[in-house]
Amino acid sequence: MTTTLTYFDHLEDLDSESKYLVHKAKEATAHSYSPYSKFCVGAALMLDDGTMVTGANQENAAYPLCMCAERVALYTAAATHPDRKIIKLAVVAHKKNHKELTPAACCGSCRQVMLEFEQRQHKSMEIIMLGPDKRWTKAPSAASLLPLGFSKDSLEG
Ligand code: THU
Repeated sequence: MTTTLTYFDHLEDLDSESKYLVHKAKEATAHSYSPYSKFCVGAALMLDDGTMVTGANQENAAYPLCMCAERVALYTAAATHPDRKIIKLAVVAHKKNHKELTPAACCGSCRQVMLEFEQRQHKSMEIIMLGPDKRWTKAPSAASLLPLGFSKDSLEG
């Protein structure tokens, strides 16, 4: 299975499905609750029947309780469409009161959670983000973003 990341200089260079997901993730930033970081993140994922599920980061005055947009979307998908597989996820961010997108690579915790989703569904999901080098980056799987990730395999046997 490939672990090669693909880079695109312009959003227009992505395939239409990915562009649509990015658009939906951008829309989802409207529901970010981020009064502390003022960093609005949106995520959109597509299920294997074409259903779209979105999420936005949700913060709390007790900072460690903040939840990333990706995990809001992933857990919503699991709770509302438990029999579906996630095939693709896009995440974008902008600073409060700024329209233009700012680079936001998925954090390590989200990569870990995505990894377990892949293992649960026996299928990898594509992940699209605007990387730190300001290039659109497409990863073929969560596993490609988290080499040597911890998994339930370690707990068994
Ligand atoms: N955040 C996300 O939603 N996704 C990420 O992958 C990185 C960080 C959120 C968490 C917090 O609300 C804000 O961005 C600043 O860290």
